[in-house]
Amino acid sequence: MGIVLYTQQGVTLRVKPHHADRPATKAVTIRAPRTETVGEETMDEYIEINYKGKAIRLPVITGSEGEKAVDISNLRKETGFITLDPGYANTGSCTSDITFMDGEKGILRYRGIPVEELAEKATFKETAYLLINGRLPNQEELTNYSILLNDHSLVHEDMQLFYQNFPRASHPMGILSSMVNALRSFYPALTSMEEESTIMVTRLMAKVRTMAAMSYKISRGHKVVYPRPDLAYCANFLNMMFDSPVKPYELNEDVVKALRVFWILHADHEQNCSTSAVRIVGSARTNLYAAISAGIAALWGPLHGGANQAVIEMLSDIQRDGGNIDRAVARAKDRNDPFRLMGFGHRVYKTYDPRAKIMKKMCNSMLSKVTINDPLLDIAKRLEETARKDSYFVDHDLYPNVDFYSGIVLRAIGIPTNMFTVMFAIGRLPGWIAQWKESMYDPKWKLSRPRQIYTGPAKTSFVPINER
Ligand code: CMC
Repeated sequence: MGIVLYTQQGVTLRVKPHHADRPATKAVTIRAPRTETVGEETMDEYIEINYKGKAIRLPVITGSEGEKAVDISNLRKETGFITLDPGYANTGSCTSDITFMDGEKGILRYRGIPVEELAEKATFKETAYLLINGRLPNQEELTNYSILLNDHSLVHEDMQLFYQNFPRASHPMGILSSMVNALRSFYPALTSMEEESTIMVTRLMAKVRTMAAMSYKISRGHKVVYPRPDLAYCANFLNMMFDSPVKPYELNEDVVKALRVFWILHADHEQNCSTSAVRIVGSARTNLYAAISAGIAALWGPLHGGANQAVIEMLSDIQRDGGNIDRAVARAKDRNDPFRLMGFGHRVYKTYDPRAKIMKKMCNSMLSKVTINDPLLDIAKRLEETARKDSYFVDHDLYPNVDFYSGIVLRAIGIPTNMFTVMFAIGRLPGWIAQWKESMYDPKWKLSRPRQIYTGPAKTSFVPINER
């Protein structure tokens, strides 16, 4: 038995009940839209749930690109029911003006602007400003923003002592997450929310880049390189990473461009795992540094941002295995083997990830321009070709995602593999900040607190230790 959904357009959908042994015949009627109200609920369009003879109407919400949601905020009050959606695959946690993505069509836009256009025409600084402030800056605003980023780019010298005391083998993502959280101790709370959302935000944008480069230098036992006022955002980072007293770093325009595009492509991706972490932690009204630190911790995971490091490790394993692509593909399809093709598949994209398309193109052009011959690129291309022809990957809609080619680009820039996810984190920072800021000013803000269905033992008595 199943839940039957009727639409006035005559489309009938059948939804399998969660437990096939439990009765689940409930009629849910979707009324056809009569009005178009963007981002707001209207009872002109609603879904009606009939349960035990009682009809409950749930308002429908329509986004500016026509996507639909049912507002269930009164469901429990009216029915005693909650919804169950492990992994939140069908759950919207908020409405948002920041990023639009369409996983079926492969669309990604920041504040309405296609990511392809930003990758071609914008700087990372402009993209960050766009995400955080809602629009592109004019010349004067951009100049002021650059001055502020420069003014805040130094990191408290005492923080270097922290860095030096992490064990040598520490992962840079763990260090970055701890150090960002520690910023609150070095830079105490400001007096107003207004100040917090301008000064603190700019401070983070300016310092995280310095802190990331600093962690690399310290991990190598090298002298820290300070930010330079004459260099733009991306070039400044490269210089802090690679300049040395014995070998001055020569900036290469193609390398700077590659980093710019890499960061723009990673700048936001709506309510993904790390962004949701930032919003959830921020919903307890904790400070921005703590919320971003939680985002960094979430991003570290290999199913999320850590995939860029995992892709290179996987490609290197294939190389060591004599370039045996078929074995890797067979393992990925084997249900008894936990191995997955890293850099393949996405919760939202069921077509080619638009970011991966740009990354692949850039990977090819960059490697030819900086005349690097990376054998992993050849393995990656053969792997993609084999997987894309395989019925398992076709049937599961598994395409390369942004991480599949990004590691090769980062290798060509000279970034060590264990810093890859840190690079993702710097790129994602404006998105996290924009989402945090939006949630702080959301008039419908609520503490994030999901519910559960308890499946443990029924009430039972405490057994004294000598009777156990
Ligand atoms: N290799 C092999 N099989 C896969 C893969 C993969 N990379 N991804 C998904 N599947 C299969 C999975 O086994 C399952 O098969 P079945 O239905 O037969 O049991 C089916 O596809 C659905 O998988 P899922 O895990 O339920 O899907 P999801 O939407 O929860 O997973 C994902 C999304 C990204 C976690 C997953 O595709 C994955 O693990 N990919 C590899 C890690 C990766 O590249 N992550 C980076 C994502 S992009 C960067 C970012 O934005 O974070």
